[in-house]
Formats: sequence, structure tokens, C-alpha cells
Amino acid sequence: MEAKSARNARARGREGEELLLMAPGPVKVLPRILDAMSKPVIYHRGSEFAELYEEIVNALKEIFQTENDIFVLSGSGTCAMEAAIGNLVQESEKVLCISNGKFGERFFEIASRYGEAVALRFEWGRPVDVSAVRAAVEEHEPAVVTMVHNETSTGVLNPAAEVGRIVKANDAIFVLDCITSIGGDDVPVDKIHADIAIVGSQKCLGAPPGLSALSVSEEAWEKIAANKRRKPYYMDLLAFRKSFEKRQTPYTPAIPLFAALHEALRIIQEEGLRNRIRRHRTLAKAVREAVKSIGLSLFPKVESESAYSNTVTAINLPEGMTDAEMKAEMRKRGIIIVGGQDKVKGKIFRIATMGNVTAEDVFRTIEALEDVLFERGILRSKERGAGIDAAERIISAL
Ligand SMILES: Cc1ncc(COP(=O)(O)O)c(C=O)c1O
Repeated sequence: MEAKSARNARARGREGEELLLMAPGPVKVLPRILDAMSKPVIYHRGSEFAELYEEIVNALKEIFQTENDIFVLSGSGTCAMEAAIGNLVQESEKVLCISNGKFGERFFEIASRYGEAVALRFEWGRPVDVSAVRAAVEEHEPAVVTMVHNETSTGVLNPAAEVGRIVKANDAIFVLDCITSIGGDDVPVDKIHADIAIVGSQKCLGAPPGLSALSVSEEAWEKIAANKRRKPYYMDLLAFRKSFEKRQTPYTPAIPLFAALHEALRIIQEEGLRNRIRRHRTLAKAVREAVKSIGLSLFPKVESESAYSNTVTAINLPEGMTDAEMKAEMRKRGIIIVGGQDKVKGKIFRIATMGNVTAEDVFRTIEALEDVLFERGILRSKERGAGIDAAERIISAL
């Protein structure tokens, strides 16, 4: 077994500071939330768990801004994506998968296993085009349409409300991956007609990885109940609904993670959803303005500011630096950031501002980035500090 001291040493940067996770999940987890996991394990068929689960679901309903049913699954975001598709879709049915990034493609891969998946692809880094979505929905008449709200791979926020209107006007079911938007950005699930909306614990909710939650509308329930050849067993949503009558889950849940999520949701309630959304929006904008002011460019090619993600910023790598070098240099300075995936691997790096991230965390990150660029000769000495100044200008309005 690895010595604790070695593990601790690895979790620290060069200065002995703790490594700061500025990755788009998992995110930094506050000690209060970690402490909740170290409490004695409770019995999942007892009243303590029932109370905990009910409070979790009620808190999530406020954050999802929904009246729909909500369930927590003991599996990461992808587990809930597959639960949604697997429960809804029959073999012969069409699923239109709108995709402008890695996670849109993931929906297509999942849907291909359960039904007839049709991909509607857009350039990575651009938001989905609503008129093309309308044309595709009218042409294919899909039973289900999937989309990613906040495309983490490219830092683009997709127009969920407009797409939701189109899907509903065509009597299809709308499945929306809000894995990196709910809890950080404004996602009024009922207003935007998301029949199934999904969140991951390790993103904007600020909890540890391992759980996901999804909301299910009345229309989605009708479709699920009509799907007599539903394949998922572990993720059978009708079983989740039945168990919820007793505020239980069908199988043994990840109890310590539920306790952590409960505490994370308490923190969200204490902060207030509106304040939390404002903080996320401000910090993401601070990162965007900071990197632009030190000569870097943003990866998304968007016409309007509202199409930038409010939780993760994708930045073009400066010439002469690989993403491995960027990540390593930032890590030496105590900050964990990530590179690009698939098509954009080697082209971009990403800084996330999700969960319980603070202005201080953003300053620390920008300062480290300026230091890296200066050391590599990309930033001149008189340009140093411009990023911090830009971030400060945005954050002072918070
Ligand atoms: C938008 C989006 N969808 C889905 C996923 C997959 O979630 P998980 O890794 O929790 O399974 C991620 C993870 O980064 C994501 O950002």
C-alpha cells in the first residue's frame, strides 16, 4: 500500500501548496463535504437514509427548477445518460443526437446501442444552429432528441430553450445533458422543456465524483412505461420510481457519496442559487477576459457572449507550447488544468470554474498562467499582470 506521506506529497505543488483542481470535473471538494463522508455509514432501508434522500431530491428540484421527479444514481454522468436513453428508446426508434463536441458524440454512441441513432453534427467550437435542428427534427421525426447544454469539450453553451421548443412542437422527448451546467448556470428545466435533464455530482454541485441525478417528466414517464422491452436492469427508472415511494433506491446506493452530496447541496442553499449562478458567470468571464488580455485567444467561435460556457473556458494553446507542457507547467505551480479531447487534442487547454471555486482560485490560476507564459518567452515582462488586472475588473463587480 502506498505510504500516506507519498500520496500527500503528490497532492501538493512545488511550493507545498495543495494542488488546486481547476479541471472540468472532478472539482475541488470543500472539507465540510469531505467530512460528511467520514460519518458512520447508515442503513439504506432505514429512516435516516429516507430522510437524507428526500432532502437531496427536494434540494435538487430547486436547482433543476423543476416539478418533475428526480432520482440519484450511484454512477457518474454517463450512467445517467445511458439510463435516459436505455429506458426511453426502443430498437426501431429514431434518436436525433445533436452534436458539437465530445459529449454530444457520447450520446450518439449510447443511442446507437439502443435504437436508430441519427447524428446532427456541427463544428466543434460553435453553438448548434437552431434552424438546422428544426429542419432535422422535421425531416427525421425522431422519438427522442439529445443535446448537451454545456459542451465541456469546447467551452460552448448551446441554446437549450430554443431547441426544447422545437422538440416539443414535434412531439418528441428532449434529453438534455446538463452535467456541467446545473448547479452553476441557470437551467430552468421545466421552462426549457427538458423531459430528462442530467447532472453529475463532481461538477458544478461541488461534490465528489460517483453520483449523477436525473429529472423525468410526465411525458418521459409515459414513453418509458410504453417501452415494454426496456433493457436496463440496474438503471431501470421504473424501479427507481417504485423505490422512491419509500425514499429508497432499488439497490444499495453509494451511501457516503449521498451524505457528501447532501452537504454540497446545503452549501448551495446557503449561497443561494442566484448568487451561485452569478458567481459562476463572473468567474468564467474573468478567466475569458484575463486570457485575452495576455494575448491568448478563446477557442469557441461565437457570435454572442451568451454562447460561451459559464463554467469552463477553452483556450487556444499558444504557439510553441504543447498541451502536455502547459499542464505540466501549471501543475508545477500547483494548478491542475486540462487539455483538449479527441478532435481538439493538442489544440486547446481548458480552465474550469465549477462548483465552490473562489475569486482567489481564479487569481491563483491566472497568476500561474502568466508565470508560465513569461518563462516561455510568450509574455513580455511589461505585459505581466494584465491578466490579473482584467480578472480583477470583472470580479470586483461580483
Ligand atoms: C457535458 C458532459 N457530459 C457527460 C460527461 C460524462 O460524465 P462522467 O465522466 O461523470 O461520466 C461529462 C464529463 O466531463 C461532461 O462534461
